[in-house]
Amino acid sequence: MSRFVAITAVRDFEGNIREAIMGALHGDLQTLSPEVLAGGPEDVFKQLSGAPPEVLILGPGVTPDNALKLATVFDLQYPEISLILVAEPAPELVLRAMHAGIRDVVRPDIDVNDLRVLLERACLASASRRRGMGPAAESAQERGRIIAVMSPKGGVGKTTIATNLAVGLSKLAPMSVVIVDLDLQFGDVASGLLLEPEHSITEAVHGPAAQDSMVLKAFLTVHPAGLYALCAPKTPAESDYITASHVTRLLNQLATEFKYVVVDTAPGLGEHCLATLEQATDGVWVCGMDVPSIRGLSKTFSVLKELQLVPQGRHTVLNFADRKSGISVDDVESTIGVPIDAVIPRSRTLPFTTNRGIPVLQGNTRDAASKGLKRLVDRFDADWIASSQNKLHRRVVLT
Ligand SMILES: Nc1ncnc2c1ncn2[C@@H]1O[C@H](COP(=O)(O)OP(=O)(O)O)[C@@H](O)[C@H]1O
Ligand SMILES: [Mg+2]
Repeated sequence: MSRFVAITAVRDFEGNIREAIMGALHGDLQTLSPEVLAGGPEDVFKQLSGAPPEVLILGPGVTPDNALKLATVFDLQYPEISLILVAEPAPELVLRAMHAGIRDVVRPDIDVNDLRVLLERACLASASRRRGMGPAAESAQERGRIIAVMSPKGGVGKTTIATNLAVGLSKLAPMSVVIVDLDLQFGDVASGLLLEPEHSITEAVHGPAAQDSMVLKAFLTVHPAGLYALCAPKTPAESDYITASHVTRLLNQLATEFKYVVVDTAPGLGEHCLATLEQATDGVWVCGMDVPSIRGLSKTFSVLKELQLVPQGRHTVLNFADRKSGISVDDVESTIGVPIDAVIPRSRTLPFTTNRGIPVLQGNTRDAASKGLKRLVDRFDADWIASSQNKLHRRVVLT
């Protein structure tokens, strides 16, 4: 079955749709000539291979009257299909399109990235309408993993690791990853990803987004690597209005929509961190190669064990690793009482990528720091886990 059907004769636009779908959205595209519109919905259906599509794109280059006629019939007979009209959005046309049940009117010169986001939303809308109509089994949703990136200290690389993990995971699961900046006062996920978010967590936890996960998605910022971000509030003062229960609800909502929810946190064990740990399926524990950082992590583990707040998945990362630090990996492991899973050496590339706002895993750099980060990403890849059973805590060696 084709997930997307486009009725257009404009080859360039067809190419843009293919580009938007490729790699990021699953499913393929079937293109029909605008002539089918003259024959009405039955003719359109005769041309479709298999079951109805999820998204039907009308235009560019179709006669609006014919397109809207078809849309009206589809809207009544197949309300689960998301309809998109591609045309110059004159106010009168937009109004008629709305009456005909068109979900979106987009300009023919829409940017491919924007088109991808739009198609993704159209698919989600279609899926949730089908869920509403279908048998109960379809509504049993699979929940995504909530991965908390934690450390008792600041400046040890949490944000660097969280942003790279999110970018790395988006290669495994395009548009199925969201990164949430819960360093509410001084979060720098937006700057680490070169984003200028229109909305922040503030809007996501207050108002309509808190009641409806689809609305919540509209408050996220899309990153060109194929992931979503929910950035920290614009001013530190706003964080006073975000409670632990807001965080709990937010993470639960996101886990119903995304395969991976990566949470960057503030240093320490504040209420937002504890609320995150309560929901998290995985903890990524970051420590530097210095005594305060290692002791801090050891204390964190014992406090959290007592509170029974250690998430099931445990992933320890030794950052700023340096043979000249006077500490060995063995020393670190015996102090924190668990093996180290990934080592990221002190690197010259990472501060540079932080300053540029382009995580190192977005490119193809193959230095030791990216290898360490990649190793962390692999731990969340189902195929990799299956092929390396029992090797999850392989001994690491500093080079
Ligand atoms: N392995 C590393 N080598 C060198 N610099 C690093 C390394 N990891 C992180 N950094 C740099 O350290 C700084 C602080 O990192 P950041 O991720 O913001 O820490 P945190 O979020 O824990 O406060 C950033 O400029 C980052 O580029
Ligand atoms: Mg940070």
